[in-house]
Amino acid sequence: MNRIAVLTSGGDSPGMNAAVRAVARTCMFNDIECIGVMRGYEGLIEGDFVKLDRPAVGGIIHRGGTILRTARSERFKTVEGRELALKKISEAGIDGLVVIGGDGSFHGAKALHDMGFPTIGIPGTIDNDVTGTDETIGFDTAVNTALDAIMRVRDTASSHDRLFIVEVMGRNAGFLALETAVASGAEYAVVPELPLSIGNLSKLLKRSYDEGKNHTLIILAEGVMSATEMRNKLQDAGGYDARVTVLGYIQRGGHPTSFDVVLATRMGAFATESLLIGKSGVMVGNINHKLVLSDLERAWSEHKSLSPEMLSLINKMN
Ligand code: F6P
Repeated sequence: MNRIAVLTSGGDSPGMNAAVRAVARTCMFNDIECIGVMRGYEGLIEGDFVKLDRPAVGGIIHRGGTILRTARSERFKTVEGRELALKKISEAGIDGLVVIGGDGSFHGAKALHDMGFPTIGIPGTIDNDVTGTDETIGFDTAVNTALDAIMRVRDTASSHDRLFIVEVMGRNAGFLALETAVASGAEYAVVPELPLSIGNLSKLLKRSYDEGKNHTLIILAEGVMSATEMRNKLQDAGGYDARVTVLGYIQRGGHPTSFDVVLATRMGAFATESLLIGKSGVMVGNINHKLVLSDLERAWSEHKSLSPEMLSLINKMN
């Protein structure tokens, strides 16, 4: 291989830039060229490429977001879009591609691999909902960003004897909600993976107040319902007067933690070296602190479950 390209796709996550830098620097180390694809698969279809030489990836290691920008491409889901992308790839003399994104982005990577083009995935999403890796790039930062905000809310909750519902991101997955709930000492984590009974929650709240608790934090994953909806339901079920905080997109931004920078750097180097020795159709994962490769398809076809141990901690600690 003489020229490897890298793109970021789907929701941005802190640490994506460190991964882009690691891919580019590993290419330089191996005396090959690195090309950045702008706006994910959209840029691949349009041939929107930039050269990633040493200065282009200098000073980005700790920057949040992605210098390559990102998109959720509808066009790349079509056969015409994919064929157009392959044409642009071949015109630019690109021999292999690294895709940094979540499981949605890996559908596109798998399609390119199936069309005979060497492609490797790196998991980057704050949701951590990708099978084949213990952590995705950006998850640790998002947890810490949410934690920072929740601890401020906790101060007000305890000062005013209040019930707070803090809504965190996660449409289909509760990793972020569960991790931040344990880290912040919240009483409850409400996640999409488990059924929720408002009646039950209302009874649990009453019991804990009867036992002398004077404030409560509920961490709610956005995929279950909105925090406002939950507040109204708790009001109807038990007359609770909850306050609501929605953290939203602040969880996706900001500079990455050292954990995410190191993870992104390891994964970027490993993905590039794997491409160079002929691997394709696979994703890099970090399992028990060791880098491994697994089939891209696993990322979305096998469900990644929340840790039962973490779930039980919430019950034990509240
Ligand atoms: O996948 C990351 C994520 O931030 C989810 O937690 C959230 O549900 C979704 O993206 C929001 O997507 P969008 O950027 O399209 O609003």
